Amino acid sequence: NASESVLEPASASLPDSVTVRVPAKVNVQLAVGGRRADGFHALATVFFAVGLWDTVTARPAPGVTLTVSGRDADVVPTDESNLAARAARALAAHHGVEANVALHIDKDIPVAGGMAGGSADAAAALLACDALWGLGTDRETLFALAADLGSDVPFSLHGGVALGEGRGERLTPVPVGGAFHWVFAVADGGLSTPAVYGECDRLREQADGPGGADENRVPAPAADAALLEALASGDAAALGTALGNDLQPAALSLRPALAETLRAGTEAGAIGALVSGSGPTCAFLTKDAAASAAVAAALAQSGTCREVRRAEGPVPGATLV
Ligand code: C5P
Repeated sequence: NASESVLEPASASLPDSVTVRVPAKVNVQLAVGGRRADGFHALATVFFAVGLWDTVTARPAPGVTLTVSGRDADVVPTDESNLAARAARALAAHHGVEANVALHIDKDIPVAGGMAGGSADAAAALLACDALWGLGTDRETLFALAADLGSDVPFSLHGGVALGEGRGERLTPVPVGGAFHWVFAVADGGLSTPAVYGECDRLREQADGPGGADENRVPAPAADAALLEALASGDAAALGTALGNDLQPAALSLRPALAETLRAGTEAGAIGALVSGSGPTCAFLTKDAAASAAVAAALAQSGTCREVRRAEGPVPGATLV
């Protein structure tokens, strides 16, 4: 139409570089239902975005290339298996444009730690490429592309606190009445998410016999009312009591030493402790900033983890900076 024809060509206004900041998550509740026919598990999970950030920068370049700097950069794959590169290609394919981008990830989220670091980078790459290529993808499409990339990717776009259902990709915002102070104990080496779900199934079949991990045998997972109330009222003590992760027995079975980490943080005064997602990072809720500093110091002294991080939340999801 007439008003569009006077616009400059799109390329004239495209940016030279786009940077997106994206947070880590902890699941304050992770209720795992039975194994579905597609191999995924029905979930009722409450995702909580915390202020540990990866930064993804996108610049024009032929093809899709990826470089990584920051914490544990050496263990992040830079080939086609990297979820950020797959996100760039998926967005380009959806719009029928060529995928031409040099992505750079500056990592601060623990790698393979159960804090959705790879999913965060994918969410950031979607937003960054959308802006770099001037696509103006609508929100619904971005979330659908995110869900195809992985169960946690939509939440990395969403941020804040949200209930995830289905395999975790169907999100409903959860109201939160205050800021919470977290300490994270990062383990030496990661845990594979499929291996932890597999161990969860094995433990269930060990307890309930063959088929004991299947969807028709495990009760449907549901959000915990006490946990939602604790979040709404900003009550850290109540949230600490309500924290729960059905993958924790499986993570502890694969990595028994995590029990020592959980004990060390609890003895140091944490008001709640759990394995984050599929682990092996352990998350500790504390009542305020002073308590979080004390718990962090005690964990660092305990010799039960490789590294200790502190973060507040909730924080927003992937954001252009
Ligand atoms: O969706 P995403 O690729 O992050 O999932 C990684 C793996 O975790 C899946 O291949 C599956 O083994 C397991 N998973 C699951 N049920 C979910 C989410 C993930 O079994 N709801």
